Amino acid sequence: MDRTPPMVEEAGRYTAHNYHPLPVVIAEADGAWVTDVDGRRYLDCLAGYSALNFGHRHPALLEAARAQLERVTLTSRAFLHDQLGPFCRELAELCRTDLVLPMNTGAEAVETAIKVARKWGYRVKGVPAEQASIVVAADNFHGRTVTIISFSTDPSAKEDFGPYTPGFRIVPYGDLDAMRAAIDETTVAVLIEPIQGEAGVIVPPAGYLSGVRALCTEADVLMLADEVQSGLGRTGDTFACDHENVVPDMYILGKALGGGVVPVSAVAARSEVLGVLRPGEHGSTFGGNPLACAVGRAVVSLLRTGEYQQRAQDMGALLHKHLGELVGHGLTGVRGRGLWAGIDIDPVRMTGREACERLMVAGVLAKDTHGSTLRLAPPLVITADEVDYAVERLASVLA
Ligand SMILES: Cc1ncc(COP(=O)(O)O)c(C=O)c1O
Repeated sequence: MDRTPPMVEEAGRYTAHNYHPLPVVIAEADGAWVTDVDGRRYLDCLAGYSALNFGHRHPALLEAARAQLERVTLTSRAFLHDQLGPFCRELAELCRTDLVLPMNTGAEAVETAIKVARKWGYRVKGVPAEQASIVVAADNFHGRTVTIISFSTDPSAKEDFGPYTPGFRIVPYGDLDAMRAAIDETTVAVLIEPIQGEAGVIVPPAGYLSGVRALCTEADVLMLADEVQSGLGRTGDTFACDHENVVPDMYILGKALGGGVVPVSAVAARSEVLGVLRPGEHGSTFGGNPLACAVGRAVVSLLRTGEYQQRAQDMGALLHKHLGELVGHGLTGVRGRGLWAGIDIDPVRMTGREACERLMVAGVLAKDTHGSTLRLAPPLVITADEVDYAVERLASVLA
């Protein structure tokens, strides 16, 4: 009996409709593949919006989680535990910086970055109280909290959720002149995604990240790099900022930091910046819990080998080569870096949603964004044969 329809119906009836999922009900997963409740297999080309960079149920990550489950899972930050110091040290080393503040979700890490930047602005830069401004980019996606959606330019993220948090200036992404013009003596930070994920995998013009870095240094403004989606191997380097040899003042990390096992996010920065926080000013019951730290340490170990960054480069080159061949054959554009692609479906043929539904039937899972664009972000463990499989299926759907 087909178990999928009643399960789709049940989820639709009892779950708030804040997502519009494809009608696939996953029961098991391994590596780059998932299996639904009726035994159908699909190649996962979304990878939990890059939370599954190392694939589903990576053995080293499961082992770290299992070992920690046998010991201690939660202490709160009222006490120390034996995974906290090592995790923060190892992640700080990966980021080549001093301090780490662990949280759970990407949005919490972005909120943390905003709070720290404001406090740094008042206490270190000397911005008058309540005057701090942060420059952000149009078409950004940094999460769903009220403060974060306050500077979204996407009406569906924002409408009906006001009143909004003030203190943000929005400039076009990729436009250094506009950014320069928006920065003044009240500006404490620039917050950007090094590649805009939700916007459709938008890669900024060459020189943009280094230009932002230079502007921030010149104006004594913190460069906050939201690498929640772009970081931790996805683009073929540990961080997307690495492609321009840029070191931001703060990395904002999430998604893959939890290895697809538990939610783990963090910000990492020098002590002059992150050191402004005092006890009682910020925190989270679950942030930096032992299970999260144990898995996060295993993630950092995987990244230290460089193997996954290299895979993202190699498999990404293959993916982009094949996708390029489909431009003019159902695709109107392809962008991206590493194992991350935004592809524009010819809207005359079908919508992005329709393309995803057809791909699902053909055995590939992907997700549309903004009408006719699809994001492809398979796990970095994907093989060359699997890349071929994904693109063949895409070609057949577009034919
Ligand atoms: C760049 C970026 N920042 C922040 C977030 C928010 O992360 P979370 O959904 O874990 O709150 C996302 C999620 O897609 C993201 O892509």
